Amino acid sequence: MEHAHTDLPNLHRPLPPSPKTVADLMTSPPVSAESDESLAAAASRMSDHGVGSVLVLAGSRLAGILTERDLVRAGAAGADPSTATVGDWMTADPDSVGPDVEVVDAWRSLVAHGYRHIPVIEGDEVRGVVSIRDLVRVAQLRPVDGVFTDVPRGLEGVVAAETAVGSVRGVEGFYHYRQYSAIELAKRRSFEDVWHLLFDGELAGPDDAAGFATEVAPLRALPVGVARLLPQLVSAAGGAPPLDQLRTAVSLLGTAEGFQATRDLGRSEIRRDALRVCAVIPTLVAALWRTGRGEEAVEPREGLGFSANYLNMLFGEEPSAAHARAIERYLISTIDHGLNASTFTARVVTSTGADVAAAVVAGIAALSGPLHGGAPSRALDTLDAIGTPDRIDAFIREAVERGDRIMGFGHRVYKTLDPRSEMMREIAEELGGPLVDFAEQVEQTVVAVLDEMKPGRRLYTNVEFYAGVVMELCGIPRELFTPTFAVSRAVGWCAHLLEQAADNRIIRPSSRYVGPPAPQPVPELASVAPPAAEHDPSHRTKLAGRRPYPKNSRARRSNIETDICSDSTSTRSSSPWNIVVN
Ligand SMILES: CC(C)(COP(=O)(O)OP(=O)(O)OC[C@H]1O[C@@H](n2cnc3c(N)ncnc32)[C@H](O)[C@@H]1OP(=O)(O)O)[C@@H](O)C(=O)NCCC(=O)NCCS
Repeated sequence: MEHAHTDLPNLHRPLPPSPKTVADLMTSPPVSAESDESLAAAASRMSDHGVGSVLVLAGSRLAGILTERDLVRAGAAGADPSTATVGDWMTADPDSVGPDVEVVDAWRSLVAHGYRHIPVIEGDEVRGVVSIRDLVRVAQLRPVDGVFTDVPRGLEGVVAAETAVGSVRGVEGFYHYRQYSAIELAKRRSFEDVWHLLFDGELAGPDDAAGFATEVAPLRALPVGVARLLPQLVSAAGGAPPLDQLRTAVSLLGTAEGFQATRDLGRSEIRRDALRVCAVIPTLVAALWRTGRGEEAVEPREGLGFSANYLNMLFGEEPSAAHARAIERYLISTIDHGLNASTFTARVVTSTGADVAAAVVAGIAALSGPLHGGAPSRALDTLDAIGTPDRIDAFIREAVERGDRIMGFGHRVYKTLDPRSEMMREIAEELGGPLVDFAEQVEQTVVAVLDEMKPGRRLYTNVEFYAGVVMELCGIPRELFTPTFAVSRAVGWCAHLLEQAADNRIIRPSSRYVGPPAPQPVPELASVAPPAAEHDPSHRTKLAGRRPYPKNSRARRSNIETDICSDSTSTRSSSPWNIVVN
């Protein structure tokens, strides 16, 4: 069969960019008129150019605008178009927009003022005119009852959830969990106390402080089936980053524990699953890491606090009180931090009604990206690369001149010192040593050099700078910095998912289609081949003999098997496809 391929559009041809600003779609140069011209002359020019307005100029300056609506008004008032002048009927000194104004804002301005045309002015220069008609040309169908809103790239500044978990106040350099300063909580409370606060909204008093800790300590042990599979997981992972191994292990945990969709559970059951995941993640991180080094996993100890137990499982010996408390404060300070990418991800997954493990796995996946969980280790790598105090100044200047970012400095939200960084510096000072002295010298120099070379950007240390130093001093290897971050952030994700599940609406935004115009004809093929298996008798035999699910698997016990058996007339046909498809 002949195909008219030449008639098909080139789907790879770059599309014209969609208009972003007024300059992209205004009529320029504008059609103009003099104020002493007759209405008839101006109307005829509008008609010739197919426009609905003329700009009235006095020299090069904008004096007014005459629109179709003004012509109707003049006609209704009985004015003679051959003698009435433009100046009599125009709107003098009209509002205007700049060419850089975004299309959405121009639309809003026209609608808000009831204008149909608005002049475009840059400085004193008249650049053009933009009309409702221009904007309609680029408009798209929108839901009649909803507001279709363009938002900034990266959703910066967009409020996408209501939360009582906590918030970040970047200008003040302050963040809080529920109604308490997160830093004060880190300094004065245990990890379990803060976990309890975020899950249940209450800060335990002196009489019940041990209650929550006693509830979660027994949940740290791995399910036997998961513990048995970890060596195979590590071996199959073949040296993959520990955070990626953790992601897989949490997924395994969710299936092994039979977690159900949050959509089908009540709050207490979702809380039960969330407690389990948060309690077991430190055990998984430690067991995976030790297994990868050929060492036996260390069992969790219920008698130790959250942080001391984590360090004990990593190193096989009880940490000093100073190290346990240093890491505990770090962990508390990183539990939650506004609607960051991984927290948002966990909420989106929960909004679909998926189970708790699915949301936490998704959170870990988001955290694994270098722009988010990043690498506190990179700040330490920078300290290593600088080497000695005499090289700090030159190293930083050269890096900034090259356009490099200095790791551990700057923050999207904080334009003052990151409060977490301040606390981590204090903890580093408590632990002391040459690395801390060196880090402090580097901090001072970097802040001064950035202030000089990037004036007005307000760049200070962020949490990663001293967190790396503290973790290093407590013996945590650099490859475990981000998994250790996940240990605490899991509590934040789960606090948010509890909130999301309690008052849920699926998070389902819109996108703007910018591909080739649709519909295009689907190119015809010579013939449509049926699936290979239907024509391959040997394949059919193989499928017929295959057990669809392993004996005793969860799937066999689930309604998947029940469905097959319960509908014998429709599913137990001679075709093996029924079994496989179900
Ligand atoms: C954290 C970070 C991504 C925030 O980025 P942001 O808010 O989008 O800031 P911008 O990228 O808009 O940067 C603003 C200006 O400050 C400069 N700047 C920001 N962080 C800088 C850094 N660490 N070193 C040098 N210059 C930096 C940028 O070069 C830019 O300068 P310009 O105006 O001349 O282009 C950024 O500060 C950064 O890359 N820091 C280093 C990585 C890091 O420590 N990440 C951990 C974050 S917790």
